[in-house]
Amino acid sequence: MTNYFTEEASVEAVNGRMASDIDPRVREVMTLLVKHLHAFIKEAKVSQQEWETAIRFLTETGKICSQERQEFILLSDTLGVSMLVDAINNRRQPGATENTVLGPFHVAGAPRVAMGDRITLDGKGESCVFEGTVVDLDEHPIEGAIIDVWSDNAEGFYDVQQPDIQPKWNNRGTFVTGSDGRYSFVGIKPVSYPIPADGPVGQMLKHLGRHPYRPAHMHYIVTAAGFQKLVTHTFVGDDNYLSSDAVFGVKATLIAPYERVLGGGTVWRSPFDFVLNPL
Ligand code: BEZ
Ligand code: FE
Repeated sequence: MTNYFTEEASVEAVNGRMASDIDPRVREVMTLLVKHLHAFIKEAKVSQQEWETAIRFLTETGKICSQERQEFILLSDTLGVSMLVDAINNRRQPGATENTVLGPFHVAGAPRVAMGDRITLDGKGESCVFEGTVVDLDEHPIEGAIIDVWSDNAEGFYDVQQPDIQPKWNNRGTFVTGSDGRYSFVGIKPVSYPIPADGPVGQMLKHLGRHPYRPAHMHYIVTAAGFQKLVTHTFVGDDNYLSSDAVFGVKATLIAPYERVLGGGTVWRSPFDFVLNPL
């Protein structure tokens, strides 16, 4: 019997059109997508006008995307989808450092820097020594771990957001651990900043009564042979936005100490050990 489209049998009408010889994973995902999408439209009783607003919003989201800007990822971030995908795909043993969202400002190929070196090139901000050890679940140091770090500058912008103002690679660097697993570098105590809010996602946040700020954080990617890749941040513990991060990236275990250092040129010290999960 032909599955003509009706309100009651809408899911069966659409899913029944799939050919029998398609990729099984495509079948599984699309079947669920249609099922939940139709259930949402029915439960919300979406009006014609609301549907048109949604189509206009998605059109604007696509139009603002470019090499430098990915508004769909920002949409995913602000709706908690990026963190959910990250959580599902990075389940770890207790004690292993947790993942959080990568964000759009990572740049591959940051210069290799010697342990203890300064990564801040614009001379702005309060200096901070970041240091600790990369270890396995038994607390054995991991040699040869590659640590890729990046943060905003003292004014809340990444170097790639201000290519004409900030030096290239400002507040970025990569390090490789020795046999003691230790890492150390000098950056700045990061500051909170708004995610790009001048597009459709910013408009959406405004309609929802939400602010666009992220609490201050230092980004890390830590990789080592035989271990799961760790994509994470450490957060500054006294930040006003910890409980309302625009992209839901905060986890309690990622809040790092920031201790004032007296004497010498450095103002802050932030110790943090990274515990890698085996593959
Ligand atoms: C970031 O931390 O760099 C970031 C993450 C998600 C959206 C925007 C920025
Ligand atoms: Fe960031």
